[in-house]
Amino acid sequence: MLTPHRVFKLKGISKMMKPVRKAILPVGGLGTRFLPATKAMPKEMLTVVDKPLIQYAVEEAIAAGVEQVILVSSRGKSSMSDHFDHSYELEQVLLERGKTEAYKSITEWLPEPGQVTVLRQQEPMGLGHAVWCARNLIGDEPFAVLLADDMILAEPGCLAQMIEAFQEYGGNLVAVEEVPRQNVDRYGILDVVEDDGKIARANGLVEKPNPDAAPSNLAIIGRYILQPDVMAELSNVRKGAGGEIQLTDAMARTLNRIFFRGIRFEGRRYDCGSKEGFVQANVAFAIAREDLREGVTDALREFCNG
Ligand code: G1P
Repeated sequence: MLTPHRVFKLKGISKMMKPVRKAILPVGGLGTRFLPATKAMPKEMLTVVDKPLIQYAVEEAIAAGVEQVILVSSRGKSSMSDHFDHSYELEQVLLERGKTEAYKSITEWLPEPGQVTVLRQQEPMGLGHAVWCARNLIGDEPFAVLLADDMILAEPGCLAQMIEAFQEYGGNLVAVEEVPRQNVDRYGILDVVEDDGKIARANGLVEKPNPDAAPSNLAIIGRYILQPDVMAELSNVRKGAGGEIQLTDAMARTLNRIFFRGIRFEGRRYDCGSKEGFVQANVAFAIAREDLREGVTDALREFCNG
């Protein structure tokens, strides 16, 4: 059965808007910044407290109502597919030993059959190329992109907040936050034309600009809701910053016809692509949990005073 399209009022005009049913998670990267940890293990399987990064991202997408999660992976990363499958032997042993909580911890969140699809990016040609690899599965509907190493501690999750805003605004929508000027060369940056403090509209985008030349310090964080036009543009973009096919460049090519907005989400983002951000995420996510809060806070106090 076809999912019924929802009708939303956009600036007084009724417009048929398709819901966001699919999410792409580009997970093919080499994870060189985390060597040697990532020598024989995907960086997306690094754990924050007791869950791998990839599980947080998949759970965030499903909690936001996404029906189909597409992992764009690469060679040698099959442990990610295993993570979203049953582990019958382990499940059996845990049940036999009466370890109910442990059993639940590996089964309760398993996606529905067919909900997670894994495909491979055969060559590491950049984020835009990874997204484009999923084009045939996306078809003609808006889709989300989540970068698993941008972790966002928020309730409701960042993508759920974005979908709510998307239902009002449509267009292309990304998560944004202000970053220190000297760090703008790590991000896609918005050239802002309107800003109400929460939603910023841009008429230009630059991937990893020099701090001197950056149009602002409002940076794209790894959550996107994009129109299928971006996918079509990805077929045409040339290599950009870093010699890679950039998603930012494809989004920029739609600015003349599709509104582009950034939303300042509620919650805190941790850059788990960096060691410092990864350690911070572990501390923050541990403190957010009742079973760990006290022990971790006490230990931190002791470290800091000692
Ligand atoms: C990617 C995007 C960039 C975005 C960033 C968010 O860069 O290309 O526009 O701001 O993710 O984390 P990467 O971190 O893959 O270099």
